[in-house]
Amino acid sequence: DFDLTAHNTLALRARSRFGLMIDEPELLPALFDYAATQNLPVRVLGGGSNVVLAPDFDGITALLALRGRSIIEQSSEAIMVEAAAGETWHDFVRWTVQQGLGGLENLALIPGTVGAAPVQNIGAYGAELADIFCSLTAYDRASGTTVTFEKDDCAFGYRDSAFKRQPNRYVVLAVRFTLPTSWAPNLAFAGLSDLADTKEINPQAVMHRVIALRTSKLPDWRVTPNAGSFFQNPVVTTAEAAPVLEEFSSAPCYPQANNRVKLSAGWLIEHSGLKGHRMGPVGISERHALVLVNHGGAQQADIAALANHIKQTVHARFGIELHEEPIFL
Ligand code: EPU
Repeated sequence: DFDLTAHNTLALRARSRFGLMIDEPELLPALFDYAATQNLPVRVLGGGSNVVLAPDFDGITALLALRGRSIIEQSSEAIMVEAAAGETWHDFVRWTVQQGLGGLENLALIPGTVGAAPVQNIGAYGAELADIFCSLTAYDRASGTTVTFEKDDCAFGYRDSAFKRQPNRYVVLAVRFTLPTSWAPNLAFAGLSDLADTKEINPQAVMHRVIALRTSKLPDWRVTPNAGSFFQNPVVTTAEAAPVLEEFSSAPCYPQANNRVKLSAGWLIEHSGLKGHRMGPVGISERHALVLVNHGGAQQADIAALANHIKQTVHARFGIELHEEPIFL
């Protein structure tokens, strides 16, 4: 019996029949072979920051703890860095910035591990992982071999990838990033643009601003357990968005390809009157309407009930459908 409450950032009460730390890639084939002979399902967790865990799992939960990071190649144009899947994402970002390397600074302070980052193509402050992604190595459970994915193989989209679409098939082992030697800051996002006036702008200054922005807006999961944005920002046709924009000309709205626009899920939830709403042991953050929080002792069903209530309320109010971002396991 293995308690997973401390291994998911929503702090949901969850147990697994067996639990195991994976600190060498060689353990994986042995684990899957053993599980097959015992007829036990296996699931792999990284930092547990994008999952909504069921209270009981009658199988083996493997916690990925592969460590290591290094600069593996340097040319005049680019520097390739690699990190093992179990490294904490933010520690890795900080390490690259400390080496004087730019490219990851807009993605500072995102919870979770390096291995989980490509699965949902993490993004924030005008950048996403796909921008600087080079390749990754994964264990393929279907073939029992280690495979390499180049960027074009990954089918990255907004919070989406080939790995997210085939859950349970691949275990990411290590990820490589291509960082530019001639760094230019990415300050297009609101809250960063005034940094363009700074004389000596460097990746460290941008990283510190991103940390300050996130800290001021998003609840810290260590204090108030949460899984970050709980819904994707809905991309809808201009016709579907029209009623919202006719009623609220100031509603956030970002043009996309194919006559579509991206609306803000946080804004829609707040304007459905739900910010700060509580339902049993869970609720919607008072600081950011896109973040669902556990006030103590919650289980998967509490989160599911609240998520459904939000979806129904937003749909009734605006006719827009929201889709969950974390994965229910
Ligand atoms: N808004 C509200 N009420 C709220 C929250 C937000 O009206 O309670 C409005 C804001 O005023 C703003 C708009 O919604 O106009 C967008 O808000 P914000 O800038 O906070 O960003 P977001 O679209 O809600 C996305 C990502 C975040 C990422 C931020 C910053 C998604 C689903 N979420 O949030 O990612 O950190 O942008 O770039 O794309 C995550 O994925 O877990 C995550 C935190």
